[in-house]
Amino acid sequence: MKNKLVLVTGGAGYIGSHTAVELMNEGYDVVIIDNLSNSEKSVLNGIAEITGRNPYFEQFDICDKKKLENFFRVYKKLDAIIHFAAYKAVGESVEKPLKYYQNNLNTLMNLLEGMVKHEVPHFVFSSSATVYGQPDELPVTETAPFKPADSPYGNTKQIAEEMIRDTVNASPGLQAISLRYFNPIGAHPSALIGELPRGVPNNLVPFITQTAIGLREELKVFGDDYNTPDGTAIRDYINVVDLAKAHVVSIKRMIEHKSKDRLEIFNLGTGKGSSVMEIVKAFEKSTGVKINYKIVGRRTGDVESVYADTKYANNELGWKAETGLEETLLSAWNWEKNIRKKA
Ligand code: NAD
Ligand code: UFG
Repeated sequence: MKNKLVLVTGGAGYIGSHTAVELMNEGYDVVIIDNLSNSEKSVLNGIAEITGRNPYFEQFDICDKKKLENFFRVYKKLDAIIHFAAYKAVGESVEKPLKYYQNNLNTLMNLLEGMVKHEVPHFVFSSSATVYGQPDELPVTETAPFKPADSPYGNTKQIAEEMIRDTVNASPGLQAISLRYFNPIGAHPSALIGELPRGVPNNLVPFITQTAIGLREELKVFGDDYNTPDGTAIRDYINVVDLAKAHVVSIKRMIEHKSKDRLEIFNLGTGKGSSVMEIVKAFEKSTGVKINYKIVGRRTGDVESVYADTKYANNELGWKAETGLEETLLSAWNWEKNIRKKA
């Protein structure tokens, strides 16, 4: 029987590349669309080296409707789309909101329109725990209400989920799963693919690995006066390969008609919160490398504490984040060392 064909938008990026690998390992054929606005073409070599085969690759901007229409005509029989392509820098989205609305919403609209027209039945969307803001109750469940978005980036995720809901409601042939990621970290255990932040990293773990390797002088810990056991903010850090696997499970669920609803929403986290200082200590323990750090003031827009209630995803999807924090931090470190060796 012919392999199922999945379009992975943004598949040269951090989470998309790991997902392409997991799909290909499970026997799916993958076509990636990426305009390489936040990634490198060499990522495709990493994917090929790990899986032993090449994904199809099309380089263009999904905001370009004509090119996308042409793509749908060429790749006639897509079984599903996983949509990662978006801008994701929270701080930049505050400075340049229209850049974020333009890219994150137009890519989604064009894809949904194309799916309806070309009868592609299954859609998986990269959403974020940012839709919850600071939840009233922790751990946060999928039924918790949206809080006013902290940033234009966060708002694009809220609007996107609503656009998907409305489109699914109006399109009997379309089914979707929205996955709300908590904090994806780490890299593939082969160290052949991982996160490639441009310039100074905004996120905690790439900043830690770049400090450890000597690219940054010291980590700034943003605030130690939160109402948490050690005063630093708490997040739910999830291994990127575990996260990628949840996408494969989601695709299978829809193809095998196991969904309970035509739009389902799942939290992707570990269920365990870790503070910034716990991450620093776990990194030091697993790698043996000391991190220079300094406590500074809080970062604007940060919430105090957020971690997932994973029961629904664990029971319904039959998926669970399995990799331990120290192993995940070690994978991030191995990746950092590997890219600096190449640079
Ligand atoms: P990433 O920047 O590494 O990957 C996104 C990819 O999409 C990049 O390769 C980029 O070149 C591509 N892209 C962007 N706009 C495009 C366009 N218009 N046309 C074609 N390609 C385009 O980001 P990531 O960390 O892999 O995130 C993937 C998705 O997951 C995003 O939607 C992001 O918002 C979401 N998400 C990420 C995190 C996180 O912490 N990394 C957390 C929650 C949600
Ligand atoms: N932090 C530091 N120093 C740094 C970087 C981060 O102390 O140099 C702290 C932050 O203040 C926060 C924690 O580390 O308390 C995690 O920060 P990240 O920037 O790594 O992650 P966020 O939780 O702020 O945001 C991430 C993604 C968003 C997504 C959100 C969903 O970057 O895209 O998770 O929860 F929306």
